[in-house]
Amino acid sequence: MAGSELDVKRWEMTPEKARQMAHAARYGLYSYIPPLLAEQIVNDYHITWGKCLDVGAGSGRLGIEIARISQLEVTAFDISFSMLKLAQEEINLNRLKDQVVIVQGRAEAMPFAAGCFDLIVSKGSIWFFADKVRAFREIYRVLKPGGIAYVGCGDARRWPSNPSDFIRMVRFRIKMQERKFQKEWQRLRLPPQEWEIILKRAGVNDYRFHAGYFWIEIRK
Ligand SMILES: C[S@@+](CC[C@H](N)C(=O)[O-])C[C@H]1O[C@@H](n2cnc3c(N)ncnc32)[C@H](O)[C@@H]1O
Repeated sequence: MAGSELDVKRWEMTPEKARQMAHAARYGLYSYIPPLLAEQIVNDYHITWGKCLDVGAGSGRLGIEIARISQLEVTAFDISFSMLKLAQEEINLNRLKDQVVIVQGRAEAMPFAAGCFDLIVSKGSIWFFADKVRAFREIYRVLKPGGIAYVGCGDARRWPSNPSDFIRMVRFRIKMQERKFQKEWQRLRLPPQEWEIILKRAGVNDYRFHAGYFWIEIRK
């Protein structure tokens, strides 16, 4: 069951924990990913204006990076009030108040009209949706015909060009090989066949899996 009260409570982390997550997203080992991924997504799909939704946005870094290099109006959407508070700080810091807004809610029941987003992104969150079929049904519903959703987890195709980010990437990849990380990942990950079942149940037929840990491209 994806009861809204229950989900929100489960996700409502302490402000301290949320702050740690936001700090890691801004300065931590994987902080090099959002700018590279934003550039890749915008360049691959040539979607530079209209509306973009970041589902499970957390502190909002991916959506913010997309806004920075495009004219897209971005909605950073998340179940957690604490994360969204930090996303708003990040938006203010980047002076993107006019281009990026926060909205609280559940991926399984989004408060948006059908077909209103040209681009939907989601990084590191699909594993956590309580009801994945409903979440994908919603992603597909709010995607505009002709639009693209790029959801999943992990690296962009291009490596970082600046040395400190390159070092971060190497350290991150080494860390990923650690037992603790592998164990956690094994617990969370689903094999592609299971994602296919989820996507089919959600009524999504036009999709492709990409490497780079795991990304799903959805077209409508
Ligand atoms: C691991 S974090 C990833 C955050 C961010 N996208 C990033 O890459 O740093 C997962 C996020 O998904 C959000 N989340 C979990 N379940 C959700 C749901 N059902 N609907 C919307 N957001 C959800 C959490 O609050 C959290 O911010």
